[in-house]
Amino acid sequence: MVKGFSLTQIALHWVVAGLIGFNLIFSDGMTHLWYQIRKNGPMPTTTGAWAHIIVGVAILVLVGWRLALRFTRGVPEAPHNDNALLEKAGDAGHILLYLLMIGLPVTGLMAFYGGFTSLGSLHGGILKALLWAVIGLHVVAAFYHHFILKDGLINRMRKPG
Ligand code: HEM
Ligand code: HEM
Repeated sequence: MVKGFSLTQIALHWVVAGLIGFNLIFSDGMTHLWYQIRKNGPMPTTTGAWAHIIVGVAILVLVGWRLALRFTRGVPEAPHNDNALLEKAGDAGHILLYLLMIGLPVTGLMAFYGGFTSLGSLHGGILKALLWAVIGLHVVAAFYHHFILKDGLINRMRKPG
């Protein structure tokens, strides 16, 4: 078992976090174009929509890289605490984050380029809402470790080990 995350793993965590934040916040261009396409038929992709698509595909590729590193190099063991349920929740939260980071771009691409229109509502509806919720819990958990448990967990995503 490795002692900490590598520099690449840490860089990938923060770059992907930033790109996810971008696509969650700046998605108006895509929503607008998608609405127009469904109402009036095909039309050229706007700059805002291109940004959404390129950032989304970059997330998919970088998450693939992250998972490959997770399976080849490994990740440090989750910190132990007295509550086995909280430990399981931490693992489940990370798995859910990975599933959503794959599920969002895949459903987006299938809706936009594959003609699976209903996946567009899944993408912009429940998957988007779930991602916001799980990220919220993830950040609360990180701050809980930092300010309440004071176990230095955040440092694992700052300094390679
Ligand atoms: C992790 C990557 C992605 C995230 C976090 C993301 C997030 C979002 C969000 C927040 C919306 C706005 C939904 C709303 O409030 O109405 C949206 C809409 C949309 N996105 Fe993405 N997206 C991602 C990747 C992609 C990719 C790669 C495509 C491929 C073309 C795509 C296609 C769409 C489409 C077609 C819509 C309009 C659907 C709708 O508004 O119902 N997305 N996306
Ligand atoms: C302010 C924002 C954030 C903070 C403070 C934060 C903090 C952390 C920390 C400290 C860890 C390491 C946990 C451990 O050592 O076991 C971690 C892991 C992780 N974070 Fe974040 N994070 C943030 C945002 C995000 C975002 C936006 C995403 C993606 C949607 C994300 C996805 C993940 C994943 C998947 C892991 C597990 C890594 C692995 O074990 O493979 N994080 N985060």
